[in-house]
Amino acid sequence: MLRKAEDVLTTTDVRRRQVDERIRRLESRLVREHDEVPPSLVHEWIERASARFGDARVRDFVPLLVERAVRASVLGFSSDQHEMSGTWLPDWARNTARRLLADELPRRWAHTAGVARRARQVARVLPVEERDLLVAAAWVHDIGYAAELADTGLHSLDGARYLLRAGLSRRVCGLVAHHSGASAVAELTGMAEGLAEFGDERGRLRDALWYADMTTSPDGHPTTVEERLAEIRRRRGPDDPVVRALAINGDERLAAVRRIHRLLRRTYKPARG
Ligand SMILES: [Fe+2]
Repeated sequence: MLRKAEDVLTTTDVRRRQVDERIRRLESRLVREHDEVPPSLVHEWIERASARFGDARVRDFVPLLVERAVRASVLGFSSDQHEMSGTWLPDWARNTARRLLADELPRRWAHTAGVARRARQVARVLPVEERDLLVAAAWVHDIGYAAELADTGLHSLDGARYLLRAGLSRRVCGLVAHHSGASAVAELTGMAEGLAEFGDERGRLRDALWYADMTTSPDGHPTTVEERLAEIRRRRGPDDPVVRALAINGDERLAAVRRIHRLLRRTYKPARG
């Protein structure tokens, strides 16, 4: 009798694991198919729907029910209108980044294109007049890595100085100069004074740029901020100033991402499907 009970338990566990696995695959598929939706939202909708349907009588149906509910949310999010301000700036920024990065640093260019894509997704948390600034800043945030611009060794500062010379507003230059916790890196590398040429604005626009950068892998694919920070540590090693700076700016980076995630959640109420 006892043996039988164990067998039943085991079968249930195996089933549950299979269902969990199908749901995980579903999440990756939806993230891939719907580039316009931030993966952190897809994840949250999956979790919520899984919790809601977890007690379904036929467990095999759970992934289907979850998929139906999450697809309804994804469609609602995608069809939500969010206009851009329609200035020349994002086009200029894209062309500039392409010219500086595409041939010389193709991986950096792929990352840049991914960050710009993510910036367009999250632009809805900003007032219309700031959305183009975000997308433009995303395109040019890493141009300081290009050999033509590299000067101080701090890519964010080199990029910002180039943009200032090109006539861009101090606001965009400041966003680029200070993106993703650059001031902590500047402190550690003796570049703080140089970086102070540019203002570090706080608020949604800045958070949204950090979010876009921190949730995009070096190849331009969606990632979580936790994995992104772990990847930075692995790739650069413990002595790199960017890694050492994480002790100072790591929490700030996480907080910026979380603030934008919360705002995204608020801008869109998923359908109860
Ligand atoms: Fe970046």
